[in-house]
Amino acid sequence: MLRTKIAVFVSGGGTNLQALIDAQKSGLLQSGEIALVLASNDKAYALTRAAENNIPSAVVVRKDFATQLEYEERVKEVLTEYGIELIVLAGFMSILSENFTSAYPKRIINIHPSLIPSFCGKGYYGLKVHEAALAYGVKVTGATVHFVNEIPDGGEILLQKAVEVKEGDTPEVLQRRVMEEAEWVLLPRATEQVAKDLQKGR
Ligand code: GRF
Repeated sequence: MLRTKIAVFVSGGGTNLQALIDAQKSGLLQSGEIALVLASNDKAYALTRAAENNIPSAVVVRKDFATQLEYEERVKEVLTEYGIELIVLAGFMSILSENFTSAYPKRIINIHPSLIPSFCGKGYYGLKVHEAALAYGVKVTGATVHFVNEIPDGGEILLQKAVEVKEGDTPEVLQRRVMEEAEWVLLPRATEQVAKDLQKGR
């Protein structure tokens, strides 16, 4: 069976990409194949993880383009070159406008490190999410995988998983627990689910 071609968009360490790579090896991710890693900068360690696993990669840097539109057109060109059918945002930090998201309806998913609708939207990313959760004093946080549309963290929710906040947690400690217990579990599961659904749609 032809597997859904997946592009993973990255900006940083790529631990969520690694979880997807491991899921492909273990057979958990079987309806899709990671055909491309697209990075927003050339320093992302995620690129090393791609190279170590013989996955093609591309770097498209927003500030290399005069406008958001030209940036997004270049990204689309690269995706077309690789025949990409599903986009997974995994720690991706560049903006994607409606011009881009509307070209891939229900074909872009994102992992956010909180239980949406808490601690999400503009300005909530990376450690900031966990700082806000600790500042508010929530006893439970977690991660969410959702479809991506033009509203930051606004698309339909696919999966969520709760994670306990513990006494004395620092943002870094909490981030790690949310990654280990939620993000790295949910993203492969959601990716397999959507990749499989896209197979049916063929
Ligand atoms: C982390 O803050 C994670 O919670 C979020 O993106 C950031 C980097 O993740 N999803 P990764 O290690 O690059 O996958």
